[in-house]
Amino acid sequence: MGSAKPPVTIKPGDSSDIKVTIKTAGKSGAMTKTITVVTNDPREPNRAMNLTSTVVLPAGAMSHPEFKGAQEILRGQCMSCHVTPGIGKKGAVLYEAACAMCHGDQGEGKTAAALNQPGMAQRDDKAVFEIIAKGIQARGMPGFLKGEVESGPYDKAQLESLVTFIKGWQRKPAGAAPKS
Ligand code: HEC
Ligand code: HEC
Repeated sequence: MGSAKPPVTIKPGDSSDIKVTIKTAGKSGAMTKTITVVTNDPREPNRAMNLTSTVVLPAGAMSHPEFKGAQEILRGQCMSCHVTPGIGKKGAVLYEAACAMCHGDQGEGKTAAALNQPGMAQRDDKAVFEIIAKGIQARGMPGFLKGEVESGPYDKAQLESLVTFIKGWQRKPAGAAPKS
């Protein structure tokens, strides 16, 4: 997208090719990409073109959201998108890489519960840590602590940084009365 190409001269009635790359990682189903062709045509200098396509997963490939157990997202072919981007990361970056797809970019909830809910800041750090470490397997929340659960990818310091990060959404301003 947006790469400036040297001007191409096309005579009236002539044609030329435009090369468009669409990144399909993590996508499936209908996709639209808009490209703008800038010309010296006095009547219509900018012409937008929509390229629609359907991303079909190869037979046997994963398709969202079908999966068998909470830990599966942390193994095999799922790791490149769901685990690797968070390796060595902490806080907001780790959250975005490992949690946002289920809990929402701002913790507002998505396929899983909201984490920016009132009361989160008052929860015991250790209890919240335990949830992230071991998961809630029966409900689809994976455990993330290395050495604690099968295929747990991240270390203690990384998960502690997540506790601080998610509790930060609801941190009360100084002097506010504690709730519950
Ligand atoms: C090519 C990258 C990629 C791979 C590989 C991948 N995912 Fe995902 N996954 C994503 C993206 C991107 C999202 C977020 C989609 C969104 O925000 O709507 C996501 C979201 C999810 C979600 C949460 C939202 C939902 O639809 O339920 C689950 C669960 C999930 N993936 C499981 C898996 C499992 C299990 C595997 C392996 C079998 C896997 N993913 C492999 C990219 C990937
Ligand atoms: C595959 C989806 C998925 C991913 C990825 C995921 N979670 Fe969860 N999480 C859940 C589900 C499901 C629950 C159970 C609550 C519910 O049913 O929505 C849950 C529950 C939680 C809870 C308890 C909420 C409460 O109110 O008690 C916390 C805290 C939490 N997740 C944090 C995280 C963090 C931090 C990450 C990233 C390291 C993460 N989750 C990644 C699905 C997910």
